[in-house]
Amino acid sequence: MTKDITSRNDRFPEGSAAFQHKHLLGISGLQPWEIHYILDQADQWVTLNRSPATKHDNSLSGLTIINAFFENSTRTLLSFEIAGKRLGADVVNMHAAQSSLKKGETLIDTAVTLNAMHADAIVIRHGSSGAVQLISDKVDCPVLNAGDGTNEHPTQALLDALTIMRRKGNIEGQIVTICGDILHSRVARSNIYCLKLLGAEVRVVGPPALVPKTLESFGVQRFTNFEKALDGCDVIMMLRLQNERMQGDYIPSPREYNFLYGLNEERLAIAADNALVMHPGPMNRGVEIESSIADNLEISAITEQVEMGVAVRMACLDIVTRKTRAVEGWA
Ligand code: CP
Repeated sequence: MTKDITSRNDRFPEGSAAFQHKHLLGISGLQPWEIHYILDQADQWVTLNRSPATKHDNSLSGLTIINAFFENSTRTLLSFEIAGKRLGADVVNMHAAQSSLKKGETLIDTAVTLNAMHADAIVIRHGSSGAVQLISDKVDCPVLNAGDGTNEHPTQALLDALTIMRRKGNIEGQIVTICGDILHSRVARSNIYCLKLLGAEVRVVGPPALVPKTLESFGVQRFTNFEKALDGCDVIMMLRLQNERMQGDYIPSPREYNFLYGLNEERLAIAADNALVMHPGPMNRGVEIESSIADNLEISAITEQVEMGVAVRMACLDIVTRKTRAVEGWA
């Protein structure tokens, strides 16, 4: 069931712009009112997206958006493409595997090449932390981070926040347990920043080697026992093991991981009544989550997260291109 989101626009400091940045590179560096502003805007796009007759808006008509993805993606790439098209923009996708990177072109030269095409916004996913920031320094238009290495995945955290807001009514005071490969997860990092800024209590849990102790300095509670971390929590975010970022073995086997950290019905019962289960995807069924939970729409918000992804990315594209379009509301 969806609850109403109360508009938080009244929390902006008087005389301040609603969103004060050229780029969206991370949640780190944003103010709580900027996050609330994006979520309020995105919430309005959810309604439009659910209405078959009026699914299009032409706010970004005449603008060109390049999606440059140097790592694989299903959800983020497609939702950015759909978001741009629903707002009337021309959207082109650059897949690294078919690009001149394969002929030895550097990342900087690729960025300069994209810039020469006068894109109005560039959305970038890259396997190296900091690569998106590097590109943003070389181009003239706004850059949106679609995930860089283990650093940040800001639009994922925003769509997760919108999902929690709509399901729970607010984020402040909610106990959110994030379980899995925290060490390699840009989703975990962006969510920790976002949830803490919005007043949630955040717990992280997983195998000791995959849950950095340094997170405690962010005001996050660290656990290695899943049952203790689940006790009374309102939201459970399950993460997949990021094997592609691991050098060496962090866990004995997927079977043992499932035994200690897999979310099943018995463990779900330890959480608060009506606890919400989330997963950014892609998920490994039978490893970090059982299908009986993932597919139960009363408990699981996994497909709703995907839906919110389109709305959040529409809001982000709209907001960062306002200067280009000379629309009020930019810094
Ligand atoms: N959650 C997420 O980033 O999924 P994709 O890798 O499919 O984009």
